[in-house]
Amino acid sequence: MKARIISTGYFLPERILTNKDLEKMVDTTDEWITKRTGITERRIASEEEASSDMGTRASQMAIENAGIKANEIDAVICSTITPDHFFPSTACLIQHNLRIKDAYAFDLSAACSGFLFALNTAESMLLSGKADTVLVVAPEKLSSITDWKDRSTCVLFGDGAGAAILKKDESGNGIQSTYLKSDGAFGDLLMVPAGGSRMPASPETIEKRQHYLKMKGNEIFKVAVKSMIKAAKHVIKDAAFKPEDIKALIPHQANMRIINAIEKRLSLKDEQIFVNLDKTGNTSAASIAISLGELESSGGLKEGDKVVLVSFGGGLTWAGIALTW
Ligand code: ACO
Repeated sequence: MKARIISTGYFLPERILTNKDLEKMVDTTDEWITKRTGITERRIASEEEASSDMGTRASQMAIENAGIKANEIDAVICSTITPDHFFPSTACLIQHNLRIKDAYAFDLSAACSGFLFALNTAESMLLSGKADTVLVVAPEKLSSITDWKDRSTCVLFGDGAGAAILKKDESGNGIQSTYLKSDGAFGDLLMVPAGGSRMPASPETIEKRQHYLKMKGNEIFKVAVKSMIKAAKHVIKDAAFKPEDIKALIPHQANMRIINAIEKRLSLKDEQIFVNLDKTGNTSAASIAISLGELESSGGLKEGDKVVLVSFGGGLTWAGIALTW
């Protein structure tokens, strides 16, 4: 018995912010951003659009693709670092928007690894009999915590949402292996310092711009490459996949140089690596969820295809999941 993704969905807001637009906002160039990250544009949600709105749209697509009624879902897990509020959870808001009545819903926080951590939780809930149909949704409005005066971070992030519905399956297809790790010792490399109980909001924290995401990007870079390679190797071995048989490896979409390093170290070919960060930027927990949704809806996945998901993010957290479609 395996936990299997039966459908996916994704949502990207309409507004496109290009590197050329950013040249007018901060001291940067299209050339620097493209060369150092691979990003050329990203989507930005409107003022009225919160994470729960985007998560609802992605979930509606996943429900439609699954051919089920929303009320068949008995658990909703939402992973986001940009919740609508501290509480109620964004999962509860999405549950309500979808008119799901007889279910339990909660948020799970693991930054850019959130979608994979949530898939792992869904797998445990399904295999232990705690749920029959689980909606995993990862919406992010990173533009709401981006410091638009900080060129070292504001060029990197974008908004969007992805969703997946999981059920138990006896065919042997589904999640084959998972690998999840975190190391809180490096928590300060990537964080939003203020607004929580450690440093509640005050005029001073606002003046110091401490409600925005801070990242020591170059320190994270090396750890990201090493950890993602380790996670990918681990799940590929545990699932007994041959690298040449992998249909798609979907890495967290943070930086093309990180993705290239993973491809090289795993001896994979360009066509085995899914990339959309040129058009989406880094959408944190939504990144792999959107990628999976785009790949499925473009007809890029057939039953039995071997897929590897690999993530890295704040916490620090990193994870891998190997599955057969
Ligand atoms: N435009 C022009 N110059 C810039 C910009 C910019 N937008 N940003 C930084 N620079 C400058 C810096 O000031 C620095 O100048 P200096 O040499 O004169 O001091 C120079 O460019 C190099 O800066 P670095 O930070 O060393 O650049 P690097 O090559 O490391 O690229 C980046 C930065 C893109 C952030 C990279 O380090 C990265 O991708 N890191 C990993 C990010 C990641 O994976 N995060 C985890 C997931 S995110 C999450 O969990 C929410």
